[in-house]
Amino acid sequence: MRWGRTRTAGAGEYLWHVIVVSVCSLKGGVGKTSVVLGLASAALAKGVPTLVVDLDPQADATMALAVDEPDANVVADILSNPRRKTIRNAIVPSGWTDGEPGQLDVVQGSQASAVHDAPRPTDRALARLGQALDRAEGYRLVLVDCPPSFGTLTRSGLVASHRAMVVTEPALFSVTAADRALRAIDALRRSNAPQLQPLGVVVNRYRDRSPEHRYRVNELSEMFGPLVLTPAVPERSALQQAQGASMPVHRWPGPAAEELGGAFDAHLARVLRAGTRPAARRTVARG
Ligand SMILES: Nc1ncnc2c1ncn2[C@@H]1O[C@H](COP(=O)(O)OP(=O)(O)OP(=O)(O)O)[C@@H](O)[C@H]1O
Ligand SMILES: [Mg+2]
Repeated sequence: MRWGRTRTAGAGEYLWHVIVVSVCSLKGGVGKTSVVLGLASAALAKGVPTLVVDLDPQADATMALAVDEPDANVVADILSNPRRKTIRNAIVPSGWTDGEPGQLDVVQGSQASAVHDAPRPTDRALARLGQALDRAEGYRLVLVDCPPSFGTLTRSGLVASHRAMVVTEPALFSVTAADRALRAIDALRRSNAPQLQPLGVVVNRYRDRSPEHRYRVNELSEMFGPLVLTPAVPERSALQQAQGASMPVHRWPGPAAEELGGAFDAHLARVLRAGTRPAARRTVARG
């Protein structure tokens, strides 16, 4: 693993490596793509070079990131052929950056990736995305948006990742699905992905006035302890409005967007910490 070196005021010197994070859940519609887009928005605002990989055949992230490159390779091409040239042709800038490459880039999703969701993948097939991403240089963060199942596409994303973020809504069936997702991630770590660790569970669409939501968040905390990431992402129509306009939520006006932006900033900081460690202090020669 290649390490970069950075100095921050007050915090001294630290080392970092690219951190690949899959955002997943066994349930549909809980907010995986919204969390990927929120983290991408936070990373862009902070100047963290980021690549989004859209593994979902529905390609919602590709649409929201305003990618307009019909001739580029899509994620299905790199799953068929993870060579350097294929991945280079698949990486395109997000429209959020006015076409400026290297700040927030995307590997586009498409219906074509559905053929890579075979029920019994070989170990080689599961390793392909990771091989391709090893050849994508220059990023500090790679975010993988997974489809709503634990099929081959999601498992390929997890095998390529250092961390897994599970998204859940504060509702009964979503809580049990989060538990199953964490168990499935643990099983995959023991078979094909020894580097994979759960980053935690993000609670999305939280309404603090709802007794049911507060009850479910308590239940999640009892079940998963510190794996429940804070803060919960609130339910706000500003998120849908920013997504509908293909804009980062950090550029959307109003207090609701600001609140959402703050939640995603906190989650981004947690993600980046996972790929960071303090640099060993250099010994100063005396005498
Ligand atoms: N915190 C939120 N506040 C308001 N709306 C939200 C929030 N999170 C998600 N949504 C909306 O809910 C819908 C589903 O969200 P999203 O597409 O992110 O879920 P998903 O888990 O990626 O779905 P899929 O399983 O289909 O990939 C979208 O219309 C999105 O805009
Ligand atoms: Mg999605």
